[in-house]
Amino acid sequence: MLRRLHPDQPETFAFTPANQAWAEAQITKYPEGRQASAIIPILWRAQEQEGWLTRPAIEHVAEMLGMAYIRALEVASFYFMFQLQPVGSVAHIQICGTTSCMICGAEDLVAVCKDKIAKRAHELSGDGRFSWEEVECLGSCANAPMAQIGKDYYEDLTAARLGEIIDEMAAGKVPVPGPQNGRYASEPLAGLTSLTEYDSGKTQYNASVQLATDIGDTIKRIDGTEVPLITPWQGKPEAANEPTKPADPKPATSNPADDTGVTKQEAPASSTAKPEGPSDANKPAALDAAREGEPDDLKLIKGVGPKLETLLNELGFYHFDQIAAWTPREVAWVDENLEGFKGRVSRDNWVEQADTLSKGLETDFSKSAKKDGIYKE
Ligand code: FES
Repeated sequence: MLRRLHPDQPETFAFTPANQAWAEAQITKYPEGRQASAIIPILWRAQEQEGWLTRPAIEHVAEMLGMAYIRALEVASFYFMFQLQPVGSVAHIQICGTTSCMICGAEDLVAVCKDKIAKRAHELSGDGRFSWEEVECLGSCANAPMAQIGKDYYEDLTAARLGEIIDEMAAGKVPVPGPQNGRYASEPLAGLTSLTEYDSGKTQYNASVQLATDIGDTIKRIDGTEVPLITPWQGKPEAANEPTKPADPKPATSNPADDTGVTKQEAPASSTAKPEGPSDANKPAALDAAREGEPDDLKLIKGVGPKLETLLNELGFYHFDQIAAWTPREVAWVDENLEGFKGRVSRDNWVEQADTLSKGLETDFSKSAKKDGIYKE
């Protein structure tokens, strides 16, 4: 399948404040120099915000992660979970067209999409509310034919049932995902023939469908309000997630991509959107100098070498008990301000090590460091 950037692109892209905070938090999950590892979730969040991945969005994410644009485009164009053109504002329907589904009627499902949505894949319906495409095997072959709509699977489909589902979604409803022929999961249609003892105590729906109905985000786009930031090391799990309005999925004013679909392939990968660190309000209490001129040997903390020790001293941290007292917010502040060593405090659990050392006890590392005579107090 040829996957290229859409010829009509918006001029700019910016994350909403809630999504920006979320994206910055994702980046801190990875060690210094490995920020590019965050690309898939951040591209996904950009797509959830806009409905599809625009060229400015891909470039914006590349800049956030210090990557060349072409590297980010490679990821965006490889996975068909990323939509490189506008999709329906209500739902984008992905019909599996691989062997099992094709044998069981995928072509009939495609015919429904052509009839009800648009003649060609990736075209918006007349009202802009639906779009469709054929995709490769989605791994639900035992429930063929099937389609992914939004974030969930609709399985054991017939052409008639798919037509109903589209009508229900157009009417503002979200039909229950999963098997559409009465099956619980992928057991024989006539019922279980073995392991029947497991037939009791079931949830109303199979695990995937139960989760889908519990969460209720089948065709709802993520807008930043759903879950707290899962970055406890930043000490702000309750980060302000104001509701944000997803952008209109219509293509914006024209700004054509070039023949290759990329305009800045060799652009420098310098970041212009450097995440801001936690506020200085979270800086731990610091000292002007070591008490009685005798700093602790911070190198007895695993992960602290001579450079980091100097850096810590410059920040006003000289003693184990200072580090042992850091709160999660303070840990986040230090993690963010260790230039060149960001994230080390959390990664190596300095607080726990410092707590042990501040009580005059030893850690495995401090024992071996002293034994090997590497560090002398
Ligand atoms: Fe359709 Fe595998 S062939 S899900």
